[in-house]
Amino acid sequence: MKALVIGSGGREHAIAWALSNSPEIEEVLCVPGNGGTAVENKCRNLDIPLKDLRAAADAAVQELGGTEGVVAVIGPENPLTEGAADILGTKGIPVVGPTKAAAQLEASKDAAKKFMKKYGVACAASETYTDLDSALKAVNASSGPVVVKADGLAAGKGVVVAGDKKTAEEAVRRFMVDGELGEAGKKLVIEEYLEGEEISVLAAVSVTPETSETGQACIIPFVPARDHKRLLDGAEGPNTGGMGAIAPVPGLDGETMNRFRKEILEPTLAGLKAEKFDYRGFIFFGLMLTKNGPKLLEYNVRLGDPETQAVLPLMDFDFAKMCLAITDGTLKSFSFKWKEGFVCAPVAVSGGYPGEYGKHKLISVDGPVVKDAGGKIFIAGAVLEKDGLYTTGGRVLAGAASGETAEKAREAAYKTLSGVSFEGMFFRKDIGAPGAAVSKTMKGGKL
Ligand code: AMP
Ligand code: GLY
Repeated sequence: MKALVIGSGGREHAIAWALSNSPEIEEVLCVPGNGGTAVENKCRNLDIPLKDLRAAADAAVQELGGTEGVVAVIGPENPLTEGAADILGTKGIPVVGPTKAAAQLEASKDAAKKFMKKYGVACAASETYTDLDSALKAVNASSGPVVVKADGLAAGKGVVVAGDKKTAEEAVRRFMVDGELGEAGKKLVIEEYLEGEEISVLAAVSVTPETSETGQACIIPFVPARDHKRLLDGAEGPNTGGMGAIAPVPGLDGETMNRFRKEILEPTLAGLKAEKFDYRGFIFFGLMLTKNGPKLLEYNVRLGDPETQAVLPLMDFDFAKMCLAITDGTLKSFSFKWKEGFVCAPVAVSGGYPGEYGKHKLISVDGPVVKDAGGKIFIAGAVLEKDGLYTTGGRVLAGAASGETAEKAREAAYKTLSGVSFEGMFFRKDIGAPGAAVSKTMKGGKL
C-alpha cells in the first residue's frame, strides 16, 4: 500500500513517520513534505504546489501510479476547508480528512458554536455579531474578561482574550473596522471567559450517513495531550503556534474524561450524524477544564500540532491500518492499544519567533546523543539542502522522547534537544512540568 500525506509541518512529519512504521506501507509520498520527511524511511517529497488542489491531486495520482492501494491523509486545516478531501475522494482514494462541509466546524467559529449549542455540547456562552455597534455594546456590557474571536481561519491570530473592556473594544475595531484579518474578521463571536487549564483531545472519527444507519459511526479519543502555547516558561510571554506537548496529561483524572465523553464527545457524535456529514478523519477537541467541568473551546478538523508529535509515539497499533478503518467504516471495531508511560515533545524555535525570526540557519544534529536519549526529531520548519538541513520556519523541530513517568519523558526529551543546535535556537525548559500550563499572572480571571 502507498500513502499520500498532504502538508509540510511537524504534524505531517509525525504522520508520515507513523505510516512508514507500518509493514503494510511501501512508500509515503509527501506533498510537499519538509526536510524531515525528505530523509524519513520510505518517504519521498513531491514538489507539487497546493494552490490549485485539483491540479495537485492529478499530479499526485500520476506519481502514485494510479489510485489502487492508496490511502491519503490530509494534515492541515486549509486544504480541508478548501475541499481537498472531496477532490481526492472523487478520484476513488480513501481519504482521512473530513469533507469541506464538515470542515466548517473549524473554518467558522460561528458555525462551530451554532453546532455546539444545537447539540448540547458543553461550551462557553457566546453571541455572534456582524455589525460594529452591537459588538461594541456587547463588550461594554460585559462585567469581566471576554474573548473576542474572528469567525474565519486566522492562523492563530483571530482570538483575543481580553482582560478589560478597552482591550476587547480594540480587538473588535481591529477585526471589524481595520480589517486586520480580512473577511475572517468581519463576523465575530464574543464569548464568556473560561478559567482553567487547557488540554487537547485528538480523536479518530468515522461518520457517514451509512455508518450512522448501521450503528458503526464513532469517535474514538486518543490519549489526552497538552500543548503549551505561550513562548516562555511558566506560560508567560506571547502566544505561539505551540511550544511543546506532553501526552498523556499528567494528573488528569478519570472523572474529567468521563464528563468529556458524556458532555462533549457524545453530543458531537450525535451532531455529526444528525447533520449527515461525511466525516472520516481526525477531530481535535480544545478543552478548558473549568471548576464546572470540561468545556469545549474549539473544534479543529485535524490533528493538533505539536500534540501529534507527542501522541503518535504512544501508539501500540498500526497507524496505516487505523487510517483504513476510518475510511472503510470499521473503526468502531479497530483495536486501539496505547503504550504505558509518557511522551514529551518540546519545540525548538528560531530566535525572534513569534515575531520576525532568523531563517536559513544550518541545523546540526548529533545522532548518537539523540539515539542515546531514545528520542525522535520531528522536523517542522526546515528543508533539506545539499549540505544539510536549514531552518525555514519559526517553529523548527520537536524533540520527542518517552519515559515511564512524565518527569523521565521530559528528561529524555530535553536530552534529545541537547543533541540539536542551530543559530538562535530557543525552547521552553518546562514542557510537561507541573505548573507549566497556567500563567500566574492570568489566575483569578485577571489577565
Ligand atoms: P480557540 O482558537 O477558540 O481555541 O482559541 C485560542 C485560544 O484562546 C485557546 O487555546 C485558549 O487559550 C483561548 N481561549 C479561547 N476561548 C476562550 C475562552 N472562552 N476562555 C478563555 N480562553 C479562551
Ligand atoms: N496545538 C494547537 C493546534 O493544533 O491547533
